[in-house]
Amino acid sequence: YETEAAQTPPMGWNPWNAFRTDVDEQKIRGSAEALVNNGLAQLGYRYVNIDDGWALQRRDDGSLKIHDTMFPSAVVDGHPNGSFVPFTDFIHSLGLKAGLYTDIGHNTCAQRWDATSPNLPVGSIAERQVGSMDHAEQDMKTIFGTWGFDYVKIDACGVADYAPDVEPVQSGRFNVFPPYIVRGDIPNSDPDAVEALYADLGTAIKEWGGDDAVLSICAWGEALSPRWGNKRGNLWRTSPDIEFHWESMLRNIDSAVDRTLYAGPGHWNDPDMLAIGHGDFDENHLTEARAHMSMWAIMASPLLIGYDLRDAPQPLLDILGNREVIAIDQDAAGNQGVPYRDGEAMVVVRTLAGDGARAVVFFNRGDEPVSATVDWTQLGFAPGSEASVRDVWTHENLAAAKGAISVDLGAHEARLFRLKGTPADADAVWLDEMPG
Ligand code: DGJ
Repeated sequence: YETEAAQTPPMGWNPWNAFRTDVDEQKIRGSAEALVNNGLAQLGYRYVNIDDGWALQRRDDGSLKIHDTMFPSAVVDGHPNGSFVPFTDFIHSLGLKAGLYTDIGHNTCAQRWDATSPNLPVGSIAERQVGSMDHAEQDMKTIFGTWGFDYVKIDACGVADYAPDVEPVQSGRFNVFPPYIVRGDIPNSDPDAVEALYADLGTAIKEWGGDDAVLSICAWGEALSPRWGNKRGNLWRTSPDIEFHWESMLRNIDSAVDRTLYAGPGHWNDPDMLAIGHGDFDENHLTEARAHMSMWAIMASPLLIGYDLRDAPQPLLDILGNREVIAIDQDAAGNQGVPYRDGEAMVVVRTLAGDGARAVVFFNRGDEPVSATVDWTQLGFAPGSEASVRDVWTHENLAAAKGAISVDLGAHEARLFRLKGTPADADAVWLDEMPG
């Protein structure tokens, strides 16, 4: 998927982790204003996205209809359900960019499995038809060409309705429609069919959104976008939704951390939006929140805040807004870090732009103290050379190091350093290792 978009991992805000479908325009506008007022926008958080729940059943001509109880500004010139232009104009007037959500199938996730939500339209699943299946061109024209969005997140729940005449069966909280079952958390996925749907959408996005439009693919599971996401979008999810507890975050790290080779300018592994502010990552768990942020930065992951910014505690804003951490996430070379693991201790090394520039995270996944070490071979530094060490979280220069760096880590602690050293001569290393 070749575009000019997302040359660094997208940064911004998304309502899903804070509000689910209990969302409305006021909450989103309020968080957009907060992004500007608290300085996060200036640090790079620029996409303000709408997630699931905004759509009503299409009109007879197939055009999209906006839930105007949720988005009152969509009533334009007395025409109900009309237009997101007042919303995108507002977001653009703040100097930000706007994103919208849809699905490759006939319906979205919430509109399939959360039918009891008071915010969602009534009617049978087959009637709702809010996803972009069979409407790729028409929807991307509306979303980018007419409404002026800059970003689209495209989910993959509704493909299960591919054959609308087939009766659904209940699988966990999902209604599934055999045999067109596609989500990675459900067996019998059909990756080729899913990839083809994203390919069509990508073509339409480039046509109507131009080269700057961002395509975020939300279809995980072994056989789905982790395999082909870099060919079809700018970012692709590698795991189920992040939940607000430690084990879930570890699972999402593990889904993305070995996938270094897929990442690069324009193409990013997406272990999901930030859970910072919630549950195990709230203001009483700043160690965990910093670890979460450190790992996302070293993995070159998108940074999408999922917290209600209208009322955010300063310590959380300081974590989200640490400019040296953000600089590592956004490093121009676009290299995702390379992981090493020793029991609960994890070390991830990221090669940054500039000769001999590296970032390294030391991360304790477990509940007991551990020590973690990175050596000069893992860092690609010349044997015997010295490197400067900066603690990125505290903005302090530490003592220079030689040969290896070791740190002690408390439970769930991560430390993030920026190093400047002398790169090893790759040829010399190779020759040294050649058998006699
Ligand atoms: C599943 C996605 O993974 C979430 O990020 C969110 O978009 C929900 N669907 C919305 O229903």
